[in-house]
Amino acid sequence: MCGIVAYIGQRRAAPLILDGLQRLEYRGYDSAGIGLMDSAGSFELHRSVGRVAALAESFEAGKISATLGIGHTRWATHGGVTVSNAHPQLSCHGQFLLVHNGVIENFRELRQFLVEREYSFASDTDTEVLVNWIEFCYRQESGVGIGILPQALRKALKGVQGTYGLALLCRDFPGTLLAARNGSPLLIGVGKEEHIVASDAAAIVTHTSQVIYLRDRELALMSGDELQVSTLQAEKVLTQVCAIDWAAEEVQKGPHEHYMHKEIHEQAQAITEALRGHVDERLASTRFGGIEPLAQELRGLHRLIFCACGSAWHACLEAEYLIEHYARIPVEVEYASEFRYRHPPLARHTLVIVVSQSGETLDTLAALAEAKRRGCSVMGITNVIGSSIARETDCGIYQHAGPEMGVASTKAFTSQLCLLAMLAIHLGRLRDLDYDEGLAFLRALRELPQKIEETLRLEQEISELAQRYAAHEQMLFLGRQTLFPIALEGALKLKEIAYVQAQGYPIAEMKHGPIALISEKCPSFIFETQASLFPKTRSNIQEIRARRGKVILVTTPDIPCDAGECEEHVVVPKTHPALQPILAIIPAQFFAYHVALLRGCDVDRPRNLAKSVTVE
Ligand code: F6R
Repeated sequence: MCGIVAYIGQRRAAPLILDGLQRLEYRGYDSAGIGLMDSAGSFELHRSVGRVAALAESFEAGKISATLGIGHTRWATHGGVTVSNAHPQLSCHGQFLLVHNGVIENFRELRQFLVEREYSFASDTDTEVLVNWIEFCYRQESGVGIGILPQALRKALKGVQGTYGLALLCRDFPGTLLAARNGSPLLIGVGKEEHIVASDAAAIVTHTSQVIYLRDRELALMSGDELQVSTLQAEKVLTQVCAIDWAAEEVQKGPHEHYMHKEIHEQAQAITEALRGHVDERLASTRFGGIEPLAQELRGLHRLIFCACGSAWHACLEAEYLIEHYARIPVEVEYASEFRYRHPPLARHTLVIVVSQSGETLDTLAALAEAKRRGCSVMGITNVIGSSIARETDCGIYQHAGPEMGVASTKAFTSQLCLLAMLAIHLGRLRDLDYDEGLAFLRALRELPQKIEETLRLEQEISELAQRYAAHEQMLFLGRQTLFPIALEGALKLKEIAYVQAQGYPIAEMKHGPIALISEKCPSFIFETQASLFPKTRSNIQEIRARRGKVILVTTPDIPCDAGECEEHVVVPKTHPALQPILAIIPAQFFAYHVALLRGCDVDRPRNLAKSVTVE
């Protein structure tokens, strides 16, 4: 949420920062800005409302020779979308320039304090309060030399409640860049005589694969090619340089018009990566090196609690069906944002699993912290190596799905479904799941990437179908058992990128209320892949059609659906029941994508949304 890019080195900073902002645009895209500092300590500030492209057009970046600068793409929290609320924010006496992600919770008190000391404000943002608070603390410091700068920043940040990832310039120290984090991700790319600070790796991979992950309550001081990291307590931190495993081309769209389209088509590859090294033929099971530290605990588990948000929450709901069925362990699935403020009983032998593509979702991180505070072991499933969730959990599994740049999750969701099905079988085999059942699952797992490729060939059919439904303003998504989370996910996709009122329900629940919505104006997207239950679903379809509702039905080839029983019939390949949801969601992903295109929506940057939600 909001993207930061800052640069210090030998190259011209402005084009490099703009390029980085463009790559981070999926984090926020209501306004953008850039601040540059020349060797004499003069600031040059450019800000504009709208996309980074609008900012890039507003000045000639290539002509600015400054080799130090900070940039930001915003997702508004405090204050509307205006130029004055865009970042960077300049302090009242012009000494500091700041870009900031996160929320300063005590900004009202700080603002009042500063107003009483004749500080004035030109924006509604908490960021402007923060930059002035930093300036105030700086002016209180005595002493000379560069040390005064981290000293003042430490003092200021200790007085702040809330979250921040920030990059800061000070007019008095023209060759110096400061960065700090608490709750908002920030990493530093280490190049040859240069450093690039960014909210995530997408802005860095085209320049260097060597990065340092800042941790909470750490700040970095960069001058020349030197980097010093210290804590808010002024303890020196020994930094560890890690390698990013994303290739530069992975963050580009290639021949695809949108990231979402690219990522839908990358699902076979993402699943192949999810399987790699996790199949154990000898034991007819799956194995995960990353969760070995909890091997003993996994055998004696009494209960599992999953915490996640959005699509990752839907994947966890799927895990509930699978783990309870195959491993017979009671499972609960919590919205991370609810779990953190609830007071659920957490008896012994309860393991908490947090699932997050980005590994940075603030609500999920807070649930993780709460689970640890209550003494639970916490396992993580995340796609981003080195992310906060990866670092703060006791053990975990990486998705290795590659960067997901589309705001609507697709390949990360199906890769989570796959890993969670594999975890269900792993836990089942640790208990009393039959050897042959384990083998049958592994066989299906090996064939899965091929079956995904087959399913992806449905795109043309679904894009034609989408034309017949794109004008509808509401829609129901219905499924039973393991296809109920798929119904929720299908509805979320359509809602978030095509702005259609879409709701997901268990199909039999329809008659308890949602049936009131059915009319010729409200079609239903129904998933059914269990032949034994099709007679029930058929009755539900008839109930819908009796009320003039149109039906788009997704089934496997074994479902005996007669011609004329529904308006549209999409057939996906058959696979193991634990993996079937992965194939079932693909038509709904394509449907949402094509309906959104037909409705003229910006698929990769849906309104009001941002990837990686790092505020509460
Ligand atoms: C929906 C979507 C969001 C995320 C949610 C959690 O398409 O992408 O609902 O799933 O914000 O994000 P992560 O998985 O990064 O924690």
